[in-house]
Amino acid sequence: MSTSQGKKALWVLLSGCLLGCVVSGPTLSQSARDDVPAEYAELANPVDDLPPDRIRYFEKKYKAQCARCHGIDGRGKGKDAAERRVPPRDFTDAAFMATRSDGELFYQILTGGGDRSAMPAYGPRSDVGWSEEKIWGMVRFVRIFTEGPAGVD
Ligand code: HEC
Repeated sequence: MSTSQGKKALWVLLSGCLLGCVVSGPTLSQSARDDVPAEYAELANPVDDLPPDRIRYFEKKYKAQCARCHGIDGRGKGKDAAERRVPPRDFTDAAFMATRSDGELFYQILTGGGDRSAMPAYGPRSDVGWSEEKIWGMVRFVRIFTEGPAGVD
């Protein structure tokens, strides 16, 4: 095979893959987090501590809005979890949660999970309409499953 033929073959292979990936979207084996823009992934959480009354507040919100998929105990086994294409992860798994930045968790709650998870968007422009500050508070609350109530970093 000549060099140019080789290059062409490589190109066909590459573009086929690119197209395939775009068309098929995220699959089970892929991390759902490939879709978080870097400028969000790198954001620091302005809420680094939740006083007891705020913990109670977010606990109530979590039970009402999140537990049906993520489970009351955060392990991702809520009653609506089973039929999701990408299942909810275990918020109590410290090794897994360490792979997620606060900005990534924020982005998911802000924009939702789309078709793959049917997780609603909660951001200011969504139907739910939570403020960004409230979402950061919820990110901090989700960290309690692995880090306890006090801010760690
Ligand atoms: C309809 C089910 C459903 C509801 C309701 C729901 N989620 Fe999710 N959520 C999912 C699924 C499934 C995933 C994993 C797949 C994905 O990333 O889309 C997920 C992912 C996440 C992630 C990202 C974790 C990761 O893998 O990076 C966060 C953070 C999160 N949810 C928080 C919440 C919070 C907080 C609420 C409530 C305010 C909530 N979710 C409500 C289904 C749900």
